[in-house]
Amino acid sequence: MKTNIALIGFMGTGKTAVGQLLSKKLDLDFVEMDALIEMKAGKTIPMIFEDGGEIAFRDLEIEVVKEVAAQTRSVIACGGGIVLNRINIDRLRQNSVVVCLTASPAVMLKRVSSQVGQRPLLDVEDPGATIRDMLKFRRPLYERAADITIDTSRLTAEGAADAIIRKLGEHESLDWSK
Ligand code: S3P
Repeated sequence: MKTNIALIGFMGTGKTAVGQLLSKKLDLDFVEMDALIEMKAGKTIPMIFEDGGEIAFRDLEIEVVKEVAAQTRSVIACGGGIVLNRINIDRLRQNSVVVCLTASPAVMLKRVSSQVGQRPLLDVEDPGATIRDMLKFRRPLYERAADITIDTSRLTAEGAADAIIRKLGEHESLDWSK
């Protein structure tokens, strides 16, 4: 039986905000993968990209997934690129139901624009066009990885957390009984 919920989805779909609320509502631990990567590297994500490029970041991400996948009773907010290495999803799936958050590109852009400088991949001249380009490649990967998908475009974080809880009720592979 699985006891974790792994939240995946593109940048700006609400994984962190929704994950924090979800963990409170379900009395589970909250784990933020990006924060663990920063702790392991001893530097911020923009610094990791600057020093070693995306490859260095992806290597760290794979290492952190290995550790996190072994946890129990946790809501795990993943970075948006977690689906790029299939091994990450295979590892997470062992003990996690995978919930994918989506949003329209316009909503994602609005959300990430309020946190400028934190996401090196969108630190470009036209982040809107970059989001659309990246989604063309990533959308099938998110779809393939997801057990459950929730569109957060018109939902508050609270509304999205409640929608997830309703859908999880139909999932037989989850078990939180202590
Ligand atoms: C990334 C998403 C970011 C972070 C890194 C790369 C991506 O996480 O892991 O900047 O490739 O989509 P969030 O989705 O939490 O912003």
